[in-house]
Amino acid sequence: MNRIFITDVAPRDGLQNQPQPVSTQAKLELIGLLAAAGLSSIELTSFVSPKAVPQMADAAELVPLVNAGHPSLRSSVLVPNLKGLERAHLAGAREIAVVLSATETMNRKNINMGLAQATEVSEQTLLAAHQLGLRTRAYVAVAFDCPFEGATPLDTVLQLASRMQAAGAGEIVIADTIGSASPGMVKERLSALAGTVAVDKLAVHFHDTRGMGVANAWAALEAGVRRFDASTGGLGGCPFAPGAAGNLATEDLVLMAERSGFSTGVSMDGLMTAIDFLEAQMQRPLGGRAISWLRRERQKRRDASAQGMDVPA
Ligand code: HMG
Ligand code: MG
Repeated sequence: MNRIFITDVAPRDGLQNQPQPVSTQAKLELIGLLAAAGLSSIELTSFVSPKAVPQMADAAELVPLVNAGHPSLRSSVLVPNLKGLERAHLAGAREIAVVLSATETMNRKNINMGLAQATEVSEQTLLAAHQLGLRTRAYVAVAFDCPFEGATPLDTVLQLASRMQAAGAGEIVIADTIGSASPGMVKERLSALAGTVAVDKLAVHFHDTRGMGVANAWAALEAGVRRFDASTGGLGGCPFAPGAAGNLATEDLVLMAERSGFSTGVSMDGLMTAIDFLEAQMQRPLGGRAISWLRRERQKRRDASAQGMDVPA
């Protein structure tokens, strides 16, 4: 299959750690631009404690607005526990994602539970979501390295992924929270995971701290994975994982995949419009590794079109 499926996480992973408040209206506009660019799956927000992540405090306002404006969009929200699920369901969420880290300390720092409790709560949340008729995803975070405990044992990742599958997770999202993975590690872990979890349920979520995001995505493609998280403009990072930098940029992933014979359904011009919007909101330059080249190409097309010439995107 030559199609890949991207979930853009900019409105959630991208914005959650930004110090300046972003209005609900601006988030809605961003989601509209991403959908217009052809992103058919978007992680909108999270139903977490507003004390822990103030930027996501408007989740219950945002979800109904997105539902009204984008009835057929695949839209998910992150929930850390049953209380988050209850709030998300009340707001009309159609898909939820639980977040389980593969180490004791990362779970404690992120969601104030140990590994055993976090695993059970994630299972209960998935089962309850299923009973409510919601689609589900399950993140397995720090699946390569933990900022507190170092290298994460592969066995733990395999066990957690398989427990999330057994609890009914529609997608199991293997996350490189601090962006420390390299392609060899990705190949090794995903090959092992593909023996445990259905490969069409596996998704990957890379952060680009060491510039390995695109190479890691290629390794995932070679391992048979077709589901990718990415964040437009590369914005992102977990506030509770020291050293976590931005996510793999959606524009980098789209460029790499399309130039390698995969279709994404995403328009690069549309993505660039969303990046312009995000830059205006953040008041700083954004973009992944390819952004300078992408901008130069866009300028060439604009110049050519001003002269009446047609240059393909
Ligand atoms: P806690 O303090 O242990 O919760 O927080 P608690 O159960 O003791 O309750 C304390 C208060 O929080 C109570 O309210 C609860 O009702 C309330 P009070 O009685 O004091 O008024 N509460 C909630 N409020 C809103 N929404 C909820 C909720 N649950 C309890 N869901 C909690 C536990 C999980 C809530 C907290 O630690 C938290 O919100 N953490 C934030 C986690 C987070 O958002 N992390 C970033 C996202 S994960 C990520 O970025 C990684 C990822 O991208 C993948 C990767 O890259 O690896 C997904
Ligand atoms: Mg993340």
